[in-house]
Amino acid sequence: MPRILVAEDDAQVLRLLECTLKQAGHEVVAVRDGREAIRRWDDGAVDLVLLDVTLPKQDGYEVATAIRAAEAGQRHVPIIMLTVGSDVQQKVRGLRAGADDYLVKPIHTAELLARMHSLLTRFASGGTMLRPPLGRLIAFYGAKGGVGSTTLAINTAIALHDERDRKVVLVDGVLQFGDHRVFLDVGNDRRSSKDAVAAPVVDAEFLQSILVTHDSGIDLLLAPTSPEEADLVAEDRFAGVLQELRRMYDYVVVDVDKRLSDLTLSILEHADEIYIVLTADLSCLKNARLVIETMSRIGFDASRLRLILNRSNAHTGISIAAAEGALRRKFDHRFTNEYRSATTAQNSGTPVVMGDRDSALGREFIALARSVDQSGTPQITARAGSGSRKG
Ligand SMILES: Nc1ncnc2c1ncn2[C@@H]1O[C@H](COP(=O)(O)OP(=O)(O)O)[C@@H](O)[C@H]1O
Ligand SMILES: [Mg+2]
Repeated sequence: MPRILVAEDDAQVLRLLECTLKQAGHEVVAVRDGREAIRRWDDGAVDLVLLDVTLPKQDGYEVATAIRAAEAGQRHVPIIMLTVGSDVQQKVRGLRAGADDYLVKPIHTAELLARMHSLLTRFASGGTMLRPPLGRLIAFYGAKGGVGSTTLAINTAIALHDERDRKVVLVDGVLQFGDHRVFLDVGNDRRSSKDAVAAPVVDAEFLQSILVTHDSGIDLLLAPTSPEEADLVAEDRFAGVLQELRRMYDYVVVDVDKRLSDLTLSILEHADEIYIVLTADLSCLKNARLVIETMSRIGFDASRLRLILNRSNAHTGISIAAAEGALRRKFDHRFTNEYRSATTAQNSGTPVVMGDRDSALGREFIALARSVDQSGTPQITARAGSGSRKG
């Protein structure tokens, strides 16, 4: 019988959870505060923890952190955080602290049991199985429209697969006006993130049925085909999908929306690296600075930000040195302005790294993929060792 530790300070909610879980055949250890939760977890065999974020004495984040520290990577008891409202910060903090999933109160019994079941199956050996390291989340963010963020995301994703033999999923994070179907010649009939967030439990098998395999060998999570459909994609659900994708792939490459919505911010917060794409013009410089400042305000580690200057040889009246001066950072990568390759690629639905890989632009895209992969080799090698890679 699975043993569930439930930490919840609201007596009524606690009683309800206890009742539900017992009816479903679980053994329940019920506690009302964080310190007690850590103590009871320490007692021994707990198969799963349900953890309210707002616990007295030590809150849910502290409890999760303490449990993960005590486990020291030797075991992994699944933790589900119980959060209030749709506050992204709470969810992100929970995941950072080591939670595997979260549920927003009021909790629906069917969803709770389904998610618990999914985690209990994944960590079937009673919490002794190690969670394989997650794949890397790489975000491309355009400082304004038309600077090449989609072009870069697509070509990097394909080159990571093609040149580095990585398992890659490309996500169109521009939900309302995503371009990937056009750039990659994929029909409007293929399924999208709207379908991915529709199920109460998102697991690998379900996502496989939504993802589209592209001719290049990478998988695609497409954007919905209309703005109305895009509105149906809730940001917490989308974050859950990304998290599951990281378990399935070496790389989750996301083409992010320019608008800093909750959904975009939650993607950026989860990202291992953010590539800010700009051209050397004033509005890009202004926006890039704003984004860098926003990221530092929400505590994003600046060493995970990269700056890309696209169309670097195009005449804009602003030199590279002046642009770098304005941003107080050097560009990490620069890309040639190559109108012909870029336009042909777009019109034919065949990305440059597939149709024109020997062009200057093609070689630069491949070099970027190498650099992305080299900086992430330890994490990816650890995944390969865990046997999570296909082929
Ligand atoms: N280095 C480049 N040289 C020439 N054209 C480019 C380059 N990068 C992108 N483009 C073109 O610029 C346009 C906008 O690119 P896109 O990737 O859609 O930008 P974003 O996603 O930032 O809006 C596209 O037509 C694309 O083919
Ligand atoms: Mg785009």
